[in-house]
Order: sequence, then C-alpha cells, then structure tokens
Amino acid sequence: MTDRFPTASFPATRMRRNRRTDWLRRLVRETQLTADDLIWPIFVVDGENQRLPVESMPGVDRLSCDLIGDAVSEARDLGIPMVAIFPYTEDTLKTPDAREAYNPENLVCNAVRAIKMAVPDIGVMCDVALDPFNSDGHDGLVRDGIILNDETLEVLCKQALVQAEAGCDVIAPSDMMDGRIGAIRTALDGAGMTDTAIMSYAAKYASGFYDPFRDAVGSGGALKGDKKTYQMDPGNTDEAMRETALDIAEGADMVMVKPGLPYLDVLYRVKQAFGMPTFAYNVSGEYAMLRGAGEAGRLDYPNVLMETLSAFKRAGADGVLTYGAVDAAKILKDR
Ligand code: PBG
Repeated sequence: MTDRFPTASFPATRMRRNRRTDWLRRLVRETQLTADDLIWPIFVVDGENQRLPVESMPGVDRLSCDLIGDAVSEARDLGIPMVAIFPYTEDTLKTPDAREAYNPENLVCNAVRAIKMAVPDIGVMCDVALDPFNSDGHDGLVRDGIILNDETLEVLCKQALVQAEAGCDVIAPSDMMDGRIGAIRTALDGAGMTDTAIMSYAAKYASGFYDPFRDAVGSGGALKGDKKTYQMDPGNTDEAMRETALDIAEGADMVMVKPGLPYLDVLYRVKQAFGMPTFAYNVSGEYAMLRGAGEAGRLDYPNVLMETLSAFKRAGADGVLTYGAVDAAKILKDR
C-alpha cells in the first residue's frame, strides 16, 4: 500500500493542484466512459406505429417493430455497440408452458430481424427467460408452486435457438436456473451456431429494483410470489463468485452482475477474480429513481446519470446496460 501510494505531506503535496482546471482534471482522470461502453435495452410491442410510454420509466417507450429501425439507427450513429431486446407480451399469449418463448415468429425474433435488416452493424442481444411468456410470471416452468429447474432448461434451449436463428448475436440467459449456460452452449453448437455468444446474468439478485421493468414487459401482474428460490440473496457475495465460476466453466463469453449500483462490490470482486468481459445492469428501478428525481426537480438527471455510469467503469465494468444509454451517448458526443 505505502509503496504504491507514497505521499509527502502538506505543504509539499497539495492534492488540489491536479484538480485546478478542466483540462488538468481530464488529463489525470483514471477511468473514461465512452459510447463503446453502453448497451441499450429496448422494449418492443406488437402492432404498427406504436410508441407506448412505460409509465414507471419516464422517457422510455415500447416501440413496434416498424419503429425500432430508426431508434436503433440513432443509437448506432451515436456509437452504441449493442441493443438488448425485451418484449411486451399480450396476456393472451401467456401459457403455463411458455410456448410463445420458442415461437420463431414471436415478437423478439421479429424485432431481431427488423433490426438486422435496418441496422446490420449493431449488435443485438436477447434475454433468455420465460417470464414474459409464462402465465405465472416466473422465469422457469412452475408445477405445484415449485419452479422446475431441469424441465425449464429444455425450454430455454429452444428459446435461445429461435433467437439465434433470427440473427441474435448475444444470448443472455437471465433466468438463474442451474446448468443453463452449458445446456444453451451445447444446443447452439449442436445447431452449428458456434459464433453466437453468451452473456450470462451470472450474479443476478432477487431485487426490488426490477419492478418498473416488470411493468414495461407486462409480467408484474402475472407474477405469483417472488423469485427468491432462483435469484440470489442480496446478503451474499461468495455465492456470486461460485455462480460466476460455474457460468464461465459452462462456456459464458461475458458475465454480468445485476442490479448495478447496489452491487458495485460484487462487480468489483467478479472483475478482479475472473478478468472476464464483465458487465453491470443498471436496472429499471435505478433508472426510474434518477429520472424521476430529475423530473421532480430534485436532481440534475444528466449529471447523476454520467456519475452513475462512471461508477461502473471505476468498479471494473467493461460495459453497462442502461436505459439512459442514448441520453449518455448524446452527452458524450456534445462534450
Ligand atoms: C427477466 C428479466 C428481468 C430483468 C431483466 N430480465 C426481471 C426479473 O428478473 O424479474 C430486469 C431488468 C430491469 O429491471 O431493468 N428475467
């Protein structure tokens, strides 16, 4: 510690000397956020010319497939490397077997094709989990109130395959079933899709910060009970290390910690220990807090957004999923 941080005492050392001007602060800054670090999650909805505001997430709309091309093309022009697709699913399509999840013509697959057609040079990531399609609102199949692990894996594999076939570049399992990364990697490889990458939601906590998202995809009303038997307990970090180690061993190309700000310690530890491409998900509730406080005149949203995103970089993230990706990229461009 002392080797690394030799410090002569005041007045020879004056820490404020390096903070004197903007150019000097920029010169000595240790971490930089750029548009390359951003992944933009988008909500899609069926129909034409639909732009439906998500009430719990001011500034966020659900877009129909004919409108996403323009939105994604703006993101690409701002330098954002990847978008993540989340579907708002009609209640009539939700069943206990979640079969809409692996319908090759489902909303997610249609959105992937629309994006790939309109903007071929941006990455597309898709969530693998059954909650948007399951009448119980759970990420896995449910029998007698129990979330079934191994039976769910088969459905997740079918879901990942239709997404990959539609052109999805990065499959992102968010369901927290045991063994899903290995099962999905085997399924993709078996279908010849050896180039399709996997970003695992490796350490995903049972969090209260997902509520606005569940409103956005329309799964909140359906959810019976909570997700504590598969998502992680907020008290644990060693368990996050084991989860991440397993996902890497099963073939994850990139790992993620979720939520973001309340779990910066986990993010830091995961990056330090594994040195994997590591991402943070700055989730819906975190976005809603900043944006909501901004709209109420309590905080300066652009300012706290950039400060928040810098925190992820400082903690070791290679990138951040954030609903503020386009806002942040515009701020970075105007600097
Ligand atoms: C689905 C999923 C969730 C999120 C991403 N994928 C919700 C959940 O697990 O209940 C949350 C994203 C957010 O809150 O922004 N498994």
